[in-house]
Amino acid sequence: MGYFLGIDESTTGVKALLTDRQGNVVGIAHTELEFFTPQPLWSEQNPADWWDGVVKSIREVLRTTGVPGDQVEAIGLTGQMHGLTLLDENGAVLRPAILWNDQRTGPQCDEIRRRLGKSRLIELTGNDALTGFTAPKILWVQENEPEVYARVKHILLPKDYVRYCLTGEFAIDRADAAGTILLDIKTRDWSPEMLSALNIPLEWLPKTFEGPEITGRVTDEAARVTGLKAGTPVVAGGGDQAAQAVGVGAVRPGIVALTLGTSGVVFATTGQAFIEPEGRLHAFCHSVPGRWHLMGVMLSAAGSLRWYRETFASGVSYDDLLAPAAKVPMGCEGLLFLPYLTGERTPHPDPLARGAFVGLTVRHNQAHLSRAVLEGVAFGLRDGFELMKSAGLASIEQVRVSGGGAKSPLWRQILADVFNAELVTVNTTEGAAYGAALLAGVGVGAWADVDAACQATVRETGSTKPTAAGVAFYDKAYAVYRQLYPALKDISHKLSEL
Ligand code: XUL
Repeated sequence: MGYFLGIDESTTGVKALLTDRQGNVVGIAHTELEFFTPQPLWSEQNPADWWDGVVKSIREVLRTTGVPGDQVEAIGLTGQMHGLTLLDENGAVLRPAILWNDQRTGPQCDEIRRRLGKSRLIELTGNDALTGFTAPKILWVQENEPEVYARVKHILLPKDYVRYCLTGEFAIDRADAAGTILLDIKTRDWSPEMLSALNIPLEWLPKTFEGPEITGRVTDEAARVTGLKAGTPVVAGGGDQAAQAVGVGAVRPGIVALTLGTSGVVFATTGQAFIEPEGRLHAFCHSVPGRWHLMGVMLSAAGSLRWYRETFASGVSYDDLLAPAAKVPMGCEGLLFLPYLTGERTPHPDPLARGAFVGLTVRHNQAHLSRAVLEGVAFGLRDGFELMKSAGLASIEQVRVSGGGAKSPLWRQILADVFNAELVTVNTTEGAAYGAALLAGVGVGAWADVDAACQATVRETGSTKPTAAGVAFYDKAYAVYRQLYPALKDISHKLSEL
């Protein structure tokens, strides 16, 4: 009897998840991580803390399940995307990692657009230069810390630093690699043109692999500290969003994954490299070999509801907060919420965008405001959906919804109506770590390919269908919502200056 281990090294913690050969979850362990903001707009973590968290979580999951380390057949890695980790020639970390949610690189994004030309940049990499991505972070270190940059010999993303500690290999999956914007999205490998425009030597970058491919094996030293067996294969895995999609079975065109976590993600698999011409959507490789995906990322989705509850209904449960909101008419009698509480990425890449309630009257009470938050987030996510359609995505058969926010039946109904699509929940709720474990199983032949792994493990558990009245109403309300950001943009920017 063998087991697969999925490791998710996220911004807030490391999760180690063990499945059996049929894909049943047998145990999970979690170790919390902190991130630091040494200056406004900065966000950093120490790579040593990632490895400590990984070691603790692996030891813990083996201890609590009683599974002997030598029964783990394969390991899959996933984690926070885009974070810049710099190593010297001896593999020592040169500075704290600069994370995906760090916003310091506005000028470097402009510089990348200037060097490549925005349209060539998007044509080549599938993406515009955004502060979250890795390439602008490399330029920032070039410009601001030349003494550090002079010693760089290896560039890794967060989960690939964990891979280096586990296996001693410098390797990366193509989904995460695409999020550096140094990858040629069509050839699925590093772009010589990007590297030469940014003066980055190819030798600094890890070798690229498809998600289920074996990238290395657990070293004697890593085996000693984790309790795993030396020689255990480690597959490439995927960035957290691609691995999350594998975990809910969103691996073929037509199925869209919608994740309602702190952030909100709309993710659509494509059979070829689809690109949104203005770069307003991310176009990355999937962790399914030979497939790609389009993605819209809203920064405050369930995070908006959490903020709202903590600020205006502290101590009230989500169920109690949302029950009265279900009785409020659609549209909240003329009240809209703009969910840009932490700036925005899709469709408006604007760190200075702000949130708003618009249309308040004395008729409005807390139930109206609660419902307006749910509707505003749904409209914001529809923006990503609409961009996908305009990028050429032909059909959306089904939306697979996951994440904390998906537990609310009211929110699911609003989303089904706003998107005019059937929303489906699935049995696999452990997200990216689960997807990484499936990729590990595929890597050692437990399933023929990723499609087969998903077919064998992911089942639909519920469905929410759009209603004719809801679709008709929200189409009209969405048209009004679309006007809010342009109308408030200047005011938001002036408020930031004030
Ligand atoms: C994806 C993204 C986030 C991070 C952190 O583009 O920025 O999903 O990977 O989870």
